[in-house]
Amino acid sequence: MKGLNHENIDFYLLETVDSTNTFAKDKKLLKNFLIVISERQTAGRGRHGKQWYSPDSGNIYMTIKFKDKNNIPLSLIIGLLISESIESVSGKKISAGLKWPNDLLINKQKVCGILVESEIINGEIEFIVGIGINYALPKKESWWGEIGKLAKLMPREKLINSILHAIIYYAENGYPNWLAAWEKRCMHIGDELKVISNNQQDEDVGIFQGVDEKGNMLLKTSNELKSISSGECSIKGIY
Ligand code: BTN
Repeated sequence: MKGLNHENIDFYLLETVDSTNTFAKDKKLLKNFLIVISERQTAGRGRHGKQWYSPDSGNIYMTIKFKDKNNIPLSLIIGLLISESIESVSGKKISAGLKWPNDLLINKQKVCGILVESEIINGEIEFIVGIGINYALPKKESWWGEIGKLAKLMPREKLINSILHAIIYYAENGYPNWLAAWEKRCMHIGDELKVISNNQQDEDVGIFQGVDEKGNMLLKTSNELKSISSGECSIKGIY
């Protein structure tokens, strides 16, 4: 990978794997970063225990494992960094909006999913950040986007390189003012949302006010300002 300091990174470039996240989890973090990229996954994993469809059709399936000392909500930061990478690699011709907590949408269709997992190893947290970006899908659901025709504007290798640089830069330097930057790219500030939380038991309708320092959603319902964490909820039916 261009311009990355390989002394700091263990790289695995694979043809096929069950899941790049599972593979990364099973490997010891011996350098600052461990990166796994595969052309295909046989058991790709999404958030909320869902599958992530991962055919060999030129998509991105990638995981980066590292320790994050920044103490800011990593799962939101990663979406923000990818949105910035898409903008810079495409020369501002493509813009990807953020849907809380960390989906990326182009033309209101989901093109990227992020799965952040963590483990405590010898008393320190190691994060396993999985990124899936759809360039082309042989079959798809209506809400799944793909980059398809936009690929010329945003070659896959360039996007991978830019995202890895951005994440490594973030790990080493942090991201001051991340909250304002995230909210600027969020596509549903001020919109009415339906949110399912508490193990699918609660359903709230309210106006999305933005996020707090922990990355929790602030939802103004008819009788309170609720703070809801991404671990426990999903937004239903808006895109
Ligand atoms: C989501 O549900 O939106 C998150 C999807 C994350 C998919 C990526 S593909 C690379 C990495 N390996 C996995 O098994 N999942 C993540």
